[in-house]
This record gives sequence, structure tokens and C-alpha cells, in this order.
Amino acid sequence: MDIARTPATPDGNPEMADAATEPHKPAIIRREDYTPFGWVVPEVHIEFELGLELTRVVATLKVERNPAAERTPMIRLNGDGLTVRELQCDGETCEGYMMDGDDLVVTLPGDSHALRIVTEISPAANSQLMGLYASNGMLCTQCEAEGFRRITFFPDRPDVLSTYTVRMSGPKVQFPILLCNGNRTATGEEGENHWAEWHDPWPKPSYLFALVAGDLVARSDSFTTMNGRKVELNVWVRDGDLERTEHAMESLKRSMKWDEETFGREYDLDLFNIVAVSDFNMGAMENKGLNVFNTKYVLADPETATDGDYDGIEGVIGHEYFHNWSGNRITCRDWFQLSLKEGFTVLRDQLFSQDMGSAPVKRIEDVRVLRGVQFPEDSGPLAHPIRPDSYSEINNFYTATVYNKGAEVIRMMRTMAGEERFRAGTDLYFERHDGEAATCEDFVKSIEDGAGLDLGQFRLWYSQAGTPKVTAALDHSGETAKLTLKQHVPPTPGQDSKRPMPIPLKIALFDRASGTHRGEQLVVLDKSEDTFAFDGFAEAPVLSINRTFSAPVTIERSASREDLVFLAAKDDDPFARYEAMQELMGGHLVAAVSGELGENERIAAQADIARAMGAVLVDESLDDLMRGELMTLPSQSYLAEQMLVADPTRIHEEREALKAFLGKELRDEFHALYDRAEKAPYSLDLASRGARKVKTLVLAFAAASDPAKAVELAAHQYDNADNMTDRQGALMVLTGIDSAERTGRLLDFYNRYEGNALVIDKWFSLQASSLHPNAIEHVKALRDHPEFTLKNPNRVRSLYMAFAGTPHHFHSPDGEGYRMIADLILELDPINPQTAARFVPPLGRWRRIEPKRAAMMREQLERIAAAPKLSRDTFEQVTRSLG
Ligand code: PHE
Ligand code: ZN
Repeated sequence: MDIARTPATPDGNPEMADAATEPHKPAIIRREDYTPFGWVVPEVHIEFELGLELTRVVATLKVERNPAAERTPMIRLNGDGLTVRELQCDGETCEGYMMDGDDLVVTLPGDSHALRIVTEISPAANSQLMGLYASNGMLCTQCEAEGFRRITFFPDRPDVLSTYTVRMSGPKVQFPILLCNGNRTATGEEGENHWAEWHDPWPKPSYLFALVAGDLVARSDSFTTMNGRKVELNVWVRDGDLERTEHAMESLKRSMKWDEETFGREYDLDLFNIVAVSDFNMGAMENKGLNVFNTKYVLADPETATDGDYDGIEGVIGHEYFHNWSGNRITCRDWFQLSLKEGFTVLRDQLFSQDMGSAPVKRIEDVRVLRGVQFPEDSGPLAHPIRPDSYSEINNFYTATVYNKGAEVIRMMRTMAGEERFRAGTDLYFERHDGEAATCEDFVKSIEDGAGLDLGQFRLWYSQAGTPKVTAALDHSGETAKLTLKQHVPPTPGQDSKRPMPIPLKIALFDRASGTHRGEQLVVLDKSEDTFAFDGFAEAPVLSINRTFSAPVTIERSASREDLVFLAAKDDDPFARYEAMQELMGGHLVAAVSGELGENERIAAQADIARAMGAVLVDESLDDLMRGELMTLPSQSYLAEQMLVADPTRIHEEREALKAFLGKELRDEFHALYDRAEKAPYSLDLASRGARKVKTLVLAFAAASDPAKAVELAAHQYDNADNMTDRQGALMVLTGIDSAERTGRLLDFYNRYEGNALVIDKWFSLQASSLHPNAIEHVKALRDHPEFTLKNPNRVRSLYMAFAGTPHHFHSPDGEGYRMIADLILELDPINPQTAARFVPPLGRWRRIEPKRAAMMREQLERIAAAPKLSRDTFEQVTRSLG
């Protein structure tokens, strides 16, 4: 797509440039075009007269010329679908304004003015769930990234910081609870109506504004900060959900304590509110003092939430809380800096969860997400640096790259600096930039200065996209082991050639006989090729590399299977052990899929894998959570990533074949493990969770090798479950196997949890991602289920993300999966473009799929692109995906 640079705008700011009038040629916003806004808005006062059908908004903005910006006679206030009901400047009706697209441009003669703007909006009609919207009779807002402009006209950009005073009023019966950012300063009643006034003393950008009005109940508690501030904590939910908020509240208190201890960050208001909403586009939102959460990340009890759900809640509660410093106190200058807050905050939530549970298992889970979601993004048409250079719709850049790779990049700085010096770096960052809208460069400079690191070349991690590939070769002669490392950063859209980046790799060299090493070392590969020599090795050692996954790269080390079996059993770094198992299984599967595997080779490889897996099953030094990781086969998408062009059917077949082989070969060991694990009573401690994890894994191996036995065991596990982890695990296995038990338990599950939306989501997901050969037909039928709706993002994702994320269904050879996803995108786009656009990336993977399917994927992308009216979100993703 050839889009001309956006024209200069009245205030000289391209960020504010109009979306072009032609819907199919949206403006492109470029990072290099940033200029400060011409005005500052120190104070905002807003009055809301709340109603589901109609809400009246009266905003008063104090505006002053920005001495740091070019002088301009006009102020551009962004809007999105708004009309001006009244406009006053300094108390007089104002005529000197014009509409430019959706924006309001006002001519201001002097240096300081008060603007009063009246708008009216309809929350009930807001199906995008951006701005002020209705959910189950309550009102709530979502303003990041550009939702505030759907409420009132405003310079809706993160570098305009204001203090907000808000008065909200509405029918008392309908909206008994009125919440906003900051502290409540006054309340009152007027007949049927009541009102509340809120003041947030901390200047903030508009994207952190939030308001909630509804019939809610709270779990309340308090936390006393390290300097003795007593903070009132509330988790607000609908009546009936209160018993399921304990874990959220405990997670919040642990987050507050952890951030004090680990990063020295203290909470800065007397009140912290969390509200759970069932209609929400994302996971949660860090609005100042008033976090709004998807119910999925708040509600849990053993009967309805899995161990994974509990972890998700702890992680997201932590994430949003940690944003109070990394995001709110220090915010982003512009949206290109998104990783400044998101990458750093993801790292913070990862470290928090590591400290709260099993650190190695958490690390493995995070790497699995990175490889399963971010690596494919980085090797496909949507690849972008963690600090993008341009965008058309910012919603499309809330990606695994900005979030998860962003976290990895900061984690590398921490690895190179060591924990203590890294902390000095973050201390300096918080001190230097508190109260500012900062850039990624500000962050890097602070770490550089505070930790005493030279990050000159390291900054390439912010500007270059693509996953670096490192080749490692170990030579041994005499007493010396020589490690030769080469790096290659593949080309990505708009970046044909790359420069070598500093890649910190933790390594250890193992003595084969004793199974030990002489200490872990950190080597930093900062050239295209380098050699590191290690003396004192009479025998060739075994290389353990990228331990703890110290760098987000792929490693090609051509280790022998014997070495991998050795590392899988002996490596003292749990991640490296996991990695050895992944490589052992993955290497075999990739070879098998390629069709180049001779029968003898297959037998030999399978025997080695069974030997390693057998050792894992009986190793008493392992806890079950970690054992479960070592038992997990590489995912289909990770395997596809390792092939230039993938045949999804073959990957699935070979993967199932390996499961079946192991299931048969290790039958007795699996059953012994199951019998032991079955005895563990339910609790949330790590041992009990581990037992549940290995139980369901054993069922999955049984399903591949002995389906009749698997059905028997799974039905038994389902019927006797006293918790959702066991019940869902059993149902997952049953859903894949045609049987009376399958039908019966699916029905039981539905009836048992009817009315509980989050559990019914699981019921949809299990069927959409099952191993059942007719899953496509099931998904089609579920589309017409009375409980399915396109209006609720959780429900849409439960059916269709689960489906698109299951390669053996999505890549059905007749192209039916592609058609279904394209149909969904076209139908959902007018309702909720942000959610619709998130279904495009799976179709965009066509270049890496065998040619017949690739053509069908392209065909669907072209069909979407040809639709007469597409949102900017979907249009951008489809255009980039077609390339
Ligand atoms: N900022 C939120 C988070 O990462 C994510 C989010 C983005 C939520 C946009 C809603 C809309 O915590
Ligand atoms: Zn975030």
C-alpha cells in the first residue's frame, strides 16, 4: 500500500493528522514525525449525567500555550463519532471552530483559555467497547489507547497530562455505585438521582481516565504501605460473584508488597478499586486507582477455575497494579513507546509470578508463549520492532512483540547487569522521569547510567525486528573446548538487512562422566561471529546454552541425541533440561515430517525419546509441576516455526504418533504416576497443582495410545473431580474421543455450569480445540448455539480463537477453517473492529504453509480486503498480511 505522508495539521502535529477521508486509505502515523502538542491542559473538569441510552458530558478544559512547542492559533481536539452540542470559550459561546473529520479544531486568540464542551453519547449503542459503554446494565469506560475521544473532544494523546475532577450523577436505583479515578471528595442526592465527585491528584493522560456506574458489591480489605499509608482496597463485582474474589484480593495485596520489596515502589493514593466487567476487549486496564478487569482475571474458586486461571489472575492483577508506576506515574510520550510501559510491566509481572510460585516453571511457560505467539509474529508479515516505526491503527500494536519480546529485551539488560545493578538502573529511571511522558530511550539511558552498562549497540533490540538465529558449534582439541557462535537476524518487512546485536548467552560445559560443570558463564555475542575458548577439558564437554533462556533467540547447536538425553537428565538448569527434551522430541518430529526419516532412524530416535521420558517419569528429584513441563511435547505451532514451509496435517500426524508410541512404551510408568498423583488431595499448593497437571498429561498420552482406557480413566476423573482443573482436563480428553462418555459429560458440564459465563466459555473452547475429527462441524453448530453471541469478546474468543489456534482444525485441507475465520472477521468487524482484527494474523501465516493451503489463505484475505467497508483495524492487518 502506498500512502502519502500525512499533511501538516493546524497544530503541526502529525499524530493528530486526520484519518484520510477515503476509508480504505487510512493515514500512517510515523514515530519520526513526533512533535510536542501546542497546548497544555493542566486541569480538566467533567460532569457526567449518566444514562444507558444517553449520557450527557460537560467537559471544561483549562488550556494554556505550551512554551516548549511551536506557537499555533488553533487547538485540535480529537473526537470519534461525536458532535458538538455546545461550545464555550471563557464563558462565551464560541463560533470560531470547525470540524476536521472527527476532530474539533478551535481557534484560540490568547495564551490561556477555558473551553467548555458539551457532548452526548449513547453507551448502550457502543458495541466496540471503547469509550463509555454498557455491560449487563452497568456503565464503564475503556480509554486506552484512543477511547477517550469517544466521550468528549480532547487532545487524546499520552503526552498531555491533566488533573481530573469529575462529577457523576444518575438514577440511584440503577447505578447505586459511582466510581472514578483518585479519591471520592463529595456525594449527595437529588430526588431519584444521586451524585459523587471524584478528584485524582495525579496528572494523567486521557487514556488512564475511567468511570464505572452500576449495581456492584465489593470485597473490601486494606493494605498498609511501607511508609504507613493505609490504603482501602475494593474488588467490585456483580451480586453473587463475591465468593469468587478472594484470590484476586490476595493477589492484589501480594503485588503491593512485592513491588515495595523488589522495586521500592509504594502505592500513592488512599484508595485502590478493581472492577470486574464481563464485556471487555482485553485482559484488564490500569486506569489510575480504578483498574477495570475482564471477569476472567478476577473471578475464581476451585469449582469453576483451573490452576491456570488462578495463575492468570495473579499475573494480571500484578500486571495492572505494577502499571501504577510503570505506565501511570511514568507514562508514554507517544504510542510508539508502548513497550516502555508494557514490556517493562510484563517483566515485572513475570518476576512477581516467579517469586510467588515455581520460578523455573513460570519461566518455561513464558518462553512457551513467546515461541508460540511472538516468534511466529516475528517471522511473518506483521513483524515489527518492539518500538514500531509507524502504524495506522495503534490497537493493532498491542502485540506479543511489544509485550513479551519487550519484556525479554529488558530481562536481558537485567541479566547483563545483575539484579542489584539493574535495580539501581530502575531506581534512577523512576526518579528521573516521575511525572513525565517518557520514551524507550529514556528508559535505556537510565539503565545505562544507573546500572553502569554500555547499551550503545544493545539499542538495536528496540529498532530491529525478527528473531535472531544463533548457530553454536563446540570443537574440542587437546585440553581446549572452543565455542564458535554465529548470529543471523532474518529480514523482516521494511528491514532487509540487519546489524549484529548483543546476545547474552548463559552457558555451562558439562563433564560427561561426572554429570557436573564448573560454573555457569555469561558470554555476549555482539558480532556476526565469535569464538570463545575454555581450557582444562581433557574430554569433549557437553554444551548447555541459552540457560534460563537468557536471550530471545533460536539456537541451532546440532547436539547429538546422546547429548540431549544427557542434558535432559542431568542439567542443573531446569529450563535447559526442558529445552533438551524439546529439542530431542522436536528434532525427531521435524525430521519425521520432512519424510527423510528412514525406518531404522525412526526406531532409534523413538527409543532415545522414550528413554529420556521414562527417566523423567520416575525421577524423584523432580516436582510434578516441572515433571509436567518435561513431559510436554513441542506445540504444533512451534514445530511449524522450525520448518521453512509447513504441512500442518503431517505435523499433527507425527506428533500424535509420538504420543501414541510413548503412551504404549511407557504405559506402566504413566499409570504408576497417575495412581500416585490421584491420591493428592485438592489444594492450591505447588505439589497438589503438580499432581493435577501430570494426571491430565497421562490421560492425553493414553488418549493417543489406548483410547478406550483413556475414556474410562477420564470419565472417572470427571465424575470424581472436586475442582475445575481435574474436571476440565478430563473433559478435554473426552471431547477428543467419540464415545457415549463424551456426549454425556459434555452435556453434564453444560447443565452443571449453565449461567456461569466463564465456565460456559470453557465448554465452547474445549470443543473448538479438541482432537475430534469432526471438530469443524461442531464449531459450525456451536455458532448457532443460543448462548453464542458476537457481542461478547470472551465468547467470540472462546469459540473462534480456540479454533484458529488449533492447527489441525484451522488448516483443514479443504480450506473450510480459513473460510470460517474470514466469515467471522467480516461479520464481527462492524460490531467490534478491535476484536475482529485479532483474527487476521492466523490467516497471515500463508507464506510459511504448503502452497495449496497458502493459496486458499490468501484467497480469504483478499475476500476480506474486498469488503466495501472495513475498519481501520482490520484493513491494516489484512493489507500487511497480503504483503
Ligand atoms: N494496557 C492494558 C494492559 O496491558 C491493555 C489494554 C490495552 C487494555 C488496550 C485495554 C485496551 O494492562
Ligand atoms: Zn499492560
